[in-house]
Amino acid sequence: MMLLKVISLCLLLVYNVNSYKILGVFPIAAVSHQILATKLMETLAEAGHEVTLVSPYPVKNVAKHWKYRNIVLDGIAEEFEDFLKNFNFYGGDNTNPITRIRQVFKMITDMTNNTLSHPKMIELVKSNEQFDALIVEQFNQDGLKAYASIFNCHQIIFSSTGPNSWINPTVGNPQPVSNVPSSFSGNFSRELSFWDRSKNLASNLFEYFIMTFILHPIQDSLVQQICSDCPSVSELHTNASLVLLNSHTSIHHAVPLVPNMAEIGGYFIDPSKPLPKDLQEFMDNAKDGVIYFSMGSNLKSKDLPEATKNGIIKVLGKLKQRVIWKFEEDLPNKPANVLIQKWCPQADILAHPNVKLFITHSGFLSTIETIYHGVPVLAIPVFADQFMNAKKAVAYGYGLKLAYNDPNFSEEALSALLDELLTNPKYHETAKFRSKLYHDRLATPIETLNYWVNYTLRYKGAKHLQVAGVQLPLHQYLLLDVVGFMVAGLVFSLWIVLVLFKRVRMIVKTGSKQKTQ
Ligand SMILES: *[C@@H]1O[C@H](CO)[C@@H](O)[C@H](O)[C@H]1NC(C)=O
Ligand SMILES: *[C@@H]1O[C@H](CO)[C@@H](O)[C@H](O)[C@H]1NC(C)=O
Repeated sequence: MMLLKVISLCLLLVYNVNSYKILGVFPIAAVSHQILATKLMETLAEAGHEVTLVSPYPVKNVAKHWKYRNIVLDGIAEEFEDFLKNFNFYGGDNTNPITRIRQVFKMITDMTNNTLSHPKMIELVKSNEQFDALIVEQFNQDGLKAYASIFNCHQIIFSSTGPNSWINPTVGNPQPVSNVPSSFSGNFSRELSFWDRSKNLASNLFEYFIMTFILHPIQDSLVQQICSDCPSVSELHTNASLVLLNSHTSIHHAVPLVPNMAEIGGYFIDPSKPLPKDLQEFMDNAKDGVIYFSMGSNLKSKDLPEATKNGIIKVLGKLKQRVIWKFEEDLPNKPANVLIQKWCPQADILAHPNVKLFITHSGFLSTIETIYHGVPVLAIPVFADQFMNAKKAVAYGYGLKLAYNDPNFSEEALSALLDELLTNPKYHETAKFRSKLYHDRLATPIETLNYWVNYTLRYKGAKHLQVAGVQLPLHQYLLLDVVGFMVAGLVFSLWIVLVLFKRVRMIVKTGSKQKTQ
């Protein structure tokens, strides 16, 4: 028995000794993206891999026993901060949507270029160092996948939001237009009406054309500057060995997933830590419960339109609950039941049993944290995927939505929403149900992450998991060639029938003429 134990322990050690060299290139300087990137690479370092993280900020808290190198791309974070300053999130609705999309694409293109042409990256390319895998985020920065070609290693793609039309083509994941809404549009009830399906088709086509004819050629030109014999970006785009999704069926609808996609949604959430003393006391002594209010890291509560902010302050002041508000400056007219904090340990606050409600911008990290802890939400979406997350909260029934820029925004409307969320038990129960689904898994997100990275590299890219559809050109994938052939065949047959019919009629006619003569 003892011997068996020793043998299995040895096997376990041998199994764990599988250590690979992994390069993670994550230049998106937004705080939430960096949290995801650093946690991903830390997890792999903790599992014993030799990790190199390329990031815009220096990484803190690197454990001594990790084999961990951080290449900091100086200059990128500063450019991103300039972008944020000029972006004017809360005024976004007055800007032409095309202008905003162009601003975002330019930011992404610049970030790709600044990474590829950064002296430290040029040096890395020249060093002839070897890697087993490259990890990049799927964020229209496909040019970064050139590193997989340069270092002759496997592509592992990470998606911060889950299966969507950006990530699906990388592994040929089917995305039926009839029932899977495209990334950033669409309806998140389970049934798509005729109109929804039409919009979904238009949106999918639009994304496809933008990607194929605008984004990929731009990325191609960036790659050419550093690697003239790299494959085209369109080729790199559909060459992933593994896709890691920061999603789970407790967070989004059930959709098809091919075998080389792994859901690790929530892997970034640490086990709860004790709260700072002041917060702990504030929450423990809240006999009517606590509302936690945060607009996330990129958006700031202080930048909300003045009238909206004052309305919110008035409404919060009238509640019997206590409120913790992540607010970035002093608030002179702060009501007595409100505690202002410049920074909040969000997940630990949400873990407190007295939390009744989370007023949130519905960013993807906040959404997963609130589901993890089963806290209902009042969603105030402002930007990008936040609208989609807010719609889902409403569709699933664990939240309600409020438009911060609704011309009808009123204290009464906000009061009514808060009252409904705080008194109708339905929201709390649904949030708890989602939380239960979140935790009911075969393996933890971290175990899943480690398993799939090891598995993919152990089988040298795990070609056997790739579906054949990934390599098919679009016209073959959509069977346009077959349909075209069948239509042509049908037309040809009809023509033959018509010709024969005419002939027969003529013969019959001449026959009857001869008879009458
Ligand atoms: C990319 O960066 C290089 C070096 O900074 C610069 O010369 C080039 O013009 C940039 N290309 C684009 C498309 O921005
Ligand atoms: C605002 O309220 C008025 C009156 O209740 C209503 O007619 C109008 O449609 C509302 N506008 C919006 C944008 O909700």
